[in-house]
Amino acid sequence: MYLHSVVVLLRLLNTSPARGAVTHTLGSSTNLENGYRLSMELSEVMRTTFSCRQWTDEPVDDATIYRILDNARFAPNGGNRQGWHVTVVKDRAIREQFKPLIKPATNQYVAQVAAGEAPWNTIVPSAIDLEAERSIDKNFPGVNEMVEAPAVLVISVDLSVVCSFDSILDRVGVISGASIYPFVWNILLAARQEGLAGVLTTYLSYAEAEVQQLLGLPEHYAVAAMVPLGHPVKQLTKLKRNSVEDFANVDRFDGAPFTA
Ligand SMILES: Cc1cc2nc3c(=O)[nH]c(=O)nc-3n(C[C@H](O)[C@H](O)[C@H](O)COP(=O)(O)O)c2cc1C
Repeated sequence: MYLHSVVVLLRLLNTSPARGAVTHTLGSSTNLENGYRLSMELSEVMRTTFSCRQWTDEPVDDATIYRILDNARFAPNGGNRQGWHVTVVKDRAIREQFKPLIKPATNQYVAQVAAGEAPWNTIVPSAIDLEAERSIDKNFPGVNEMVEAPAVLVISVDLSVVCSFDSILDRVGVISGASIYPFVWNILLAARQEGLAGVLTTYLSYAEAEVQQLLGLPEHYAVAAMVPLGHPVKQLTKLKRNSVEDFANVDRFDGAPFTA
């Protein structure tokens, strides 16, 4: 039976009160009792794990990152082959080198949004000169902050073990991502538990070859995401999303909106 209000966590805090995890994290459902942080409802975690691009200066220690990864590793993945790899990028000089690499990707993104397009989609042709736009510098939120983030994780995936059932289709692949993004999302959920927040970014993949070289990744490791993490300057609690009726239908795509 699906328990919609599963208690998510019971974490021992006796090693970490100084890090202030609790004070940064959780809302009214958080209690401290005998050194334990009591739970948030799973639904609350799912509804409030926002994309954070601004962090305080408070450092994030390796033990915390380790705990996050130790929880995230239970993510589902095709055939349980667990092709993920995490590079914990501590070296600011490496992070700095990411910036020019992703610039063309974010330049195009911003230009397409300004033109009213869904950026980087593979279905609707763009009406603007994408190549030209890639070389015109535009600001993209969070990129400078990423360099200074208390922690930066680059998540890659070993394509030699990923089951890509849609690789024979004449469209962009989506199934391969299903063997890595649940893991990435688990990182963000586990971070929330620690009082941290971050953002799933994908722009690094634009310069995959350069990133592979920079991080020493084998060629068959696809760069799936970069996740900067830290203590959020502000914890958002109201995320903007469409309603269930907007995306769920009965029996057919054009069937009646699914409702309860
Ligand atoms: C597949 C994927 C790729 C994303 N890529 C980026 C990115 O490259 N840069 C970035 O700042 N945010 C990125 N995001 C974060 C989205 O912008 C964010 O999830 C969305 O705007 C909703 O924001 P909210 O969760 O704060 O409401 C990405 C999210 C996903 C799921």
